[in-house]
Formats: sequence, structure tokens, C-alpha cells
Amino acid sequence: MYDFSLHNRINKYCEQHKLDIGKADQLFYTRFIANTSSIHDLYMELYGQHPNCEKGFDELIQTIIKAHTERSSSQKKEDAIKEKKGHWFLSNEITGMSLYVDRFCGGLNKLAGKLDYFTKLGINFLHLMPVFESPAGESDGGYAVSDFRKVDERFGSLNDLQLLQQKMQAEKMYLMVDIVLNHTSQRHEWAEKAKKGDPVYQDYFYMYDNRVLPDKFDQAMPDIFPENSPGNFTYVKECEKWVMTVFHNYQWDLNYTNPAVFNAMLDTIFFYANLGVDILRIDAPAFTWKQLGTTCQNLPQAHTLLRLIKQCVQAAAPGMALLGEAIVAPKEIMKYFGTDQYTGRECDFAYNATQMALQWDALATGDTRVMLAAQQDLLQKPFGTSWITYTRCHDDIGLGYDDSMISAAGFNAYEHRKFLKNYYAGNHPGSPATGALFSVNPKTQDARISGTLASLCGLEKAIENKDADEIDISIRKILLMQAQSFFIGGIPMLFYGDEAGHTNDYSYLNDPAKNYDNRWMHRPIIDWKKNEKINEKNTVEEKIFSATQRLISLRKKLPVVADLKNLTWLSPHNIHVTGFLREYNNEKLYCLFNFSNKASYITWYAFKEHGKIPKELYEYWSEKKYRVGPDHEYFVMEPYSFCLLEAGG
Ligand code: GLC
Repeated sequence: MYDFSLHNRINKYCEQHKLDIGKADQLFYTRFIANTSSIHDLYMELYGQHPNCEKGFDELIQTIIKAHTERSSSQKKEDAIKEKKGHWFLSNEITGMSLYVDRFCGGLNKLAGKLDYFTKLGINFLHLMPVFESPAGESDGGYAVSDFRKVDERFGSLNDLQLLQQKMQAEKMYLMVDIVLNHTSQRHEWAEKAKKGDPVYQDYFYMYDNRVLPDKFDQAMPDIFPENSPGNFTYVKECEKWVMTVFHNYQWDLNYTNPAVFNAMLDTIFFYANLGVDILRIDAPAFTWKQLGTTCQNLPQAHTLLRLIKQCVQAAAPGMALLGEAIVAPKEIMKYFGTDQYTGRECDFAYNATQMALQWDALATGDTRVMLAAQQDLLQKPFGTSWITYTRCHDDIGLGYDDSMISAAGFNAYEHRKFLKNYYAGNHPGSPATGALFSVNPKTQDARISGTLASLCGLEKAIENKDADEIDISIRKILLMQAQSFFIGGIPMLFYGDEAGHTNDYSYLNDPAKNYDNRWMHRPIIDWKKNEKINEKNTVEEKIFSATQRLISLRKKLPVVADLKNLTWLSPHNIHVTGFLREYNNEKLYCLFNFSNKASYITWYAFKEHGKIPKELYEYWSEKKYRVGPDHEYFVMEPYSFCLLEAGG
């Protein structure tokens, strides 16, 4: 609600600093005033009791104004274009790729020279894995940042990043980078000052003189990396204190109960926004608020923090959307899109990690019932928000969906997960997969899965055995997995290397800074000679690349697959097949996925349950037409296949 005193406070601040923001940019001023009450309420929820509350709020106002003042006219123009398009990021025309700049091509300047490769494939959105300074031996793939504004020399310079962004913007490509919100490297300036005993900076982290509180916290907090970084606190010998380190012992958790930390990180967010970032990936937002006696994950204040960030960004950099990297249970994930009055006003995106894991589940079992049992929750996503859909990313695959979903499909949850882990680690008899278990918890036997898309789909083993049939099957599996994530709604995000079928890269085992973390097996160093095979007819690389290219271009041609809350799951007629209907205007697209190693039969009745009954169906992948038959006859799907059937007639 409008609040005159807040309006006045901003005007006074501007008078004092001789700023006429209304005159300079009426639209910004209007957005800012319109959001001020929300910003203030959210801020007070977090910091109302803090002794520096008022000072912190003034600094917050200043941070927002500064951000907008420093925003370039070219970025403001982009903001206006996006605003005019409406929900620009729901479009079916965006396809992304996530990559490590150094492992993909060596450096940022070389990446600028690779834009043709992306254009050829159809990629128009890049997620650069963290490029800001991070100590080489203890970097967690860049997620332990020692300087949020300095590009690490391994990748190039800030100027290289800016040049790349400008080139991408000119070619209408979107850019995503990370803000590592939850923690800094122990080599960050704030951490170094804290080590030297500066109380101001010790208050930027959770630091304790002894183990009393750390022990209490540990009782309720799970271990994230139980194998290589057990516990949640690390002893800092320089200052003889214990610091909270939820992830690795070199990643210090920031203390967001301190408003100075919030303001400093918001300022960094704006620094990225003003570099021209289109979507900001907020790393690990589930962890940002800590409270004794809780798991310190998904707490209500972590949501308040995100909402506050969203309202501030909306005022000063409205063209930048926010992706919350919350890889949490399905019910928890939905909350990152906002609840109650903040529905659709928290994160614009979340990863559809549940769907990703469920696809791996269906691929191993050939049974789609668990996938279906989970959809009710996922369909609650509010209009105007979207998913990042994917089959693989730089992280492990967690089987984090609910036990109840597994039981609903008639399986025992413990045994079912055990089977999946053994299957993908290649331990199950006859399993074609070559993966590995990641972060096995010795107490609970919980584990996640590492491995590339190709290796988990059996390509590595098939090539090793020179088995042409198995190679063919693994390619079918790869495309089935990609197709479902491309057409389910949201921005598909490929992981680099998967477009050309790269199998696991074991070179990480020779690097002591990486060999303790088997996620590196699926973060390949691209061999561009091998990659050249995408141009050689009938090579594995060419088959996967050209099919992926085709999938992307098909998706771009079909506005019906834009993420407009226009998806209905088909009722199950065959446990091996999942299907959904995408509808837009009068268009109808039936998308079916057969996870069985055998042909599957679907009654024609499956196409008659939703509105007008189509007379014929045009299948985009095989480019064949089908007449819809009587209910006792069947539409037949080949093993590990998908169909994209447009209703007609
Ligand atoms: C996120 C990243 C992961 C990293 C963790 C800690 O989950 O995706 O790679 O280890 O955050 O920063």
C-alpha cells in the first residue's frame, strides 16, 4: 500500500543529495515509489529489531538509486523492450546452455569467438558458470568467491566479460551469471578481516568463540557434503573462533541477520545487473537464513530475503529476471515462486529439479508412475513464472522427490532409491549406465549421482563394447530425455558437451584440487577435434548434435510450448508412457514419451479426453500423419521414443 511518509523519506534523501530522480527517469521513480512500501515491510520483517535498522534502510535506498543511476542507457533500452514484450522469458524461442568458460573453450575472449557454434545449434541464452575470482585450490567450481567484482584471471578480465555481453546483446542472446549469495571464500576480503579480529567483519559471518552453539546447530543441520566436508563449522586458527561453513570448509556462510551484509550483496547484485545480465542465478537461496534448532534450509526469512531482492531489482533493473537455485523437495520448491500476496513476486524461475530426477527414475525403471504422482504439486506454479528445465547440469542428480510419490506408484521408497543409485552407478547387474555415487552419507546411506547425460544413458559402455545396437539405444535415450525437458514448459538448459554426446571425463582424478569431488567427471574439457565430428555424417556426435539442433528449432516454431500454464497431463493408459497436452489459442500439441525398451501401445481414446476430438494428428519428429482410430485400436510408439502430435481436423 502507498505510504506517504516513505515517499517523503525518499524525496528528502534526494533533496539532500541534490538528485532529481523523478526528472531524470519518471518510470524508475514511479516503480520505486510503487515498490517502497513492500521493500520497507520486507526489510522491517528481517531487520526491524536490529540496532542499525534505520541506517541500513537509508543505505538500501541509496543502493537502489545508485544502481539505477549507474544503469547504462543501453540496459535501460533493453529493460523497456522486455517490459513491452510482457513476460519475455516465458517464450518458446529461448534455449540455453550452461558451461564452464575455461573447460569449454579456454577463456572469455575465445567464447566471444564461439557464438557461431551456439547459433548453429539454436542456443540464444548462456549460463556462464562462475567467472569471478575464486582461489584455485579451493574454488568449488567457482562457488567460493574471493572477489565478487573481479573476473578470475583464468577466464580473462572484466573487460572481456563486458565485450562478450555486448556481442551477445547485439546478436539477441541472453546472459546468465551467478550471485553466490550464501557464502564467500575464506579468502574474501571480509573473511580475511574477520580472521584478523575485526569485529565489524566477524559479524558478516556466523562466528563463535567455542563449540557450544555450533554443536547445537549441528544437531539439527544435515551435512551437505558428508564425505569431504562433514559438519557445518570450521575452526579458524587465526582468530581462534568457529565459523559456519555449511558447504566446504573454505566457504564461509554470510550472516544475513546483519543488514550491512544484505546491502553489500544487493549492491553486488546490481553490479551484475548493470553488466547486462538478463537472468541472475541466485545460488543456494534455501540456505541463506539460519536459526538454531532448524535444518537452516527453506526458512521463511530466506523467502523474505528473496522477495526483498526481487522488489529492489524490479525498481532499478526491471529487465533482469531472477532464478532461485533451490534444489529442494517439490512442495518447498513451489514456495520460491512466492506465496500469498507475493505469489509470482519472488523468483521468476526455479530449476525443475523434481522433473529432471523423475525422468532419470523413469528411464531406469521403464515405469512412469512415480513421475505422474509428482505432477500435482508441480502444476501449482503461478502464471508468469517459469522453470529452467534440464536433464543434466554441473551438479549431481539428487533423488529428492517425496517418498509418498514413490509409494503412490506402488514401490518401497528405500528399495526404489537403492535400485536407482545402483543402476546409475553401474552396480546393478545389466545396467548400461556409467556413473558414480556422490556424497554418500555414511549415517543414512543417502547418495546422489554423478555422470554425464551420455554416460548415464549408456553411451560410454556401448562405445567401449563397440556395440552398435547399444549405441543406437543410448542415443534414443539421450533424445527422449532431452525432448521431454524441451517441451514440458520453461527454458530448456543444455549442459555443454551433451549436445555432442560427451561421455565422462576422468581427467579430474589427476588434479588434487578436484579429485575429491566426482562431480568433475561430468564437467568435461571439450576436445574440439572430437567435437568436429558433429560435421561428419553418421558419427555419434553428428547424430546427437543434429537431432538436438532439430529439437531446438522445432520448439522455436511452436508457440504452443511457451510456458503459459497451458499443460495438462494425459491420464495414464500405459505405465511406460507419459504424455501431456500443450494448448494455446486453438492449437493442441500432444507430447508423448515412451520410457520402455519395448514398443508401447496407446489407445486412441487417449486423444479424445480433452475438448474437441482431433480427426488426425501430425507428428513433427517423424513428419508423419495419423488418422485417429477407434478406442480399441492403438497408436504405437517405438522403444525409447517420443512423439509431438499436433491435433488437426
Ligand atoms: C550450488 C551449486 C553447487 C555448489 C553449491 C555451493 O548448489 O550449484 O555446485 O557446490 O551451490 O555453492
